[in-house]
Amino acid sequence: MERTKSGVPGFDEIIGGGFPKGTCCLITGTAGSGKTTFAVQFLYRGITEFGENGVYVSLEERPKDLRQEMINFGWDLGKMEKEKKLAIIDVGSARESIKTNEQYSLKNMGARLNISALSAHIFEVCREVKAQRIVIDSIPSLQLRLKDEAEVRRATSLFSNLLLEMERTSLMITEIADTHDVSRYGFEEYVTRGVVVMRLIPQYGELKRTIQAMKMRGTHHSTRTYPMEISSNGIVVHSQKP
Ligand SMILES: Nc1ncnc2c1ncn2[C@@H]1O[C@H](COP(=O)(O)OP(=O)(O)O)[C@@H](O)[C@H]1O
Ligand SMILES: [Mg+2]
Repeated sequence: MERTKSGVPGFDEIIGGGFPKGTCCLITGTAGSGKTTFAVQFLYRGITEFGENGVYVSLEERPKDLRQEMINFGWDLGKMEKEKKLAIIDVGSARESIKTNEQYSLKNMGARLNISALSAHIFEVCREVKAQRIVIDSIPSLQLRLKDEAEVRRATSLFSNLLLEMERTSLMITEIADTHDVSRYGFEEYVTRGVVVMRLIPQYGELKRTIQAMKMRGTHHSTRTYPMEISSNGIVVHSQKP
């Protein structure tokens, strides 16, 4: 089986050598658990270490904030964009009808998000940059632009179908309020082929970071919870000590 290396030291070891190529995996966790960092690391290292281009669909953060934050890890997203190796699709600004200079912002959107138009846009941009890796960050942010939860479900399954059909390796992010949950809407884990849970666990007055592969179709994997840290170079999973 072909694998897509995550670019996160220690992580591939717990999922049998990397994500099965072409899979769509859910990354879930509470706020601040490291989901965005994991996803950007997957794209950035994909480019720099494995020669695979990427697309990041930002439903939440402004691209300029993301670029700024990621510089702290030494990841110059702007440079990758100029070299046409990375595209950041700005959906957030469309939401607020903010004027933006973003190349791949979703334009001419009304108050409600048109999911078919967004899907078509993602598909087009992926083709343009020849993306092998795609990230959608994050599903709950869709809710601000859609009528109700049923619409979020419809959009999420449409995205997962699109991502699986495109046969690129993709990460779909969702955010949970409680560490004991797996997903926000209780169904994201069923439309994706893998589930990775990131947690912040109180321990001796500190918050410990952990990561767990809860499900990964098509590969043997450990279901143990492993400690991880966010260092100045990004995420490192300590897979040798469960
Ligand atoms: N340069 C850094 N070095 C170490 N930790 C960092 C750095 N930048 C951010 N962090 C940590 O990462 C957390 C944010 O992670 P993020 O990936 O944005 O989480 P999520 O997307 O799950 O909300 C911050 O709360 C902070 O604790
Ligand atoms: Mg985030």
